[in-house]
Amino acid sequence: NKTGFIFDLDGVIVDTAKYHFLAWKKLADELGIDFTEKDNERFKGVSRKRCLEILLEMGGIKATEEQFSAWLVEKNEDYLAYIDAMDESEILPDVPKVLKYLKNLKIPMALGSASKNARSILEKVNLLSYFDTLVDGNSVTKAKPDPEVFQIAAERLGVKPENCVVFEDALAGIEAANRAGMISIGIGEANVLTAARFNFVDFTEIDSEFLNNLIHRNIK
Ligand code: G6P
Ligand code: MG
Repeated sequence: NKTGFIFDLDGVIVDTAKYHFLAWKKLADELGIDFTEKDNERFKGVSRKRCLEILLEMGGIKATEEQFSAWLVEKNEDYLAYIDAMDESEILPDVPKVLKYLKNLKIPMALGSASKNARSILEKVNLLSYFDTLVDGNSVTKAKPDPEVFQIAAERLGVKPENCVVFEDALAGIEAANRAGMISIGIGEANVLTAARFNFVDFTEIDSEFLNNLIHRNIK
């Protein structure tokens, strides 16, 4: 009856939201669409394709299929230029501490992210080796809040969904974890992630006692 741990990437392990924002902002400016940091909140946990659909809806722009694909490529190329310069200094506080603790106990761990760039980001920040499997934007057909991404992760880890713990910073991700019947842990503002089973501002608030309780599912 082992416990599995599943981590979202953007906003949980690394703060890439700022780079996604800059890349979307550049495209929005070119298209004459007003796009703020607040709008960027809606893009968290949402697939690249769906983000562009939302952006175009905001601007009332109808795109041909060719334009749509070209803009997707443009956004991603700008994003990748930022990602290319990333290193370990961009890992969010105390994430390695938690990953190391679980790895030493041989706890099965998966990444569960909507990003198609997940593998290269984990390589850049040197955290790839902690994960037994990566479930990313290339392995799913249904985006969060659909539970598919976490269900696949549980299957690959060989852990029952109800025995999985999910760390998420996005509303859609918490909903996906809850729909999968998993233990959801919100990272970020508790008043935003109200549906999470537990809430923490970041990993500095997560200690070994809490991790042990999760592992033994000694939780209320
Ligand atoms: C994560 C981010 C989203 C992003 C999505 C796709 O879920 O929170 O903001 O749109 O990944 O990322 P990608 O790297 O494939 O464009
Ligand atoms: Mg996220």
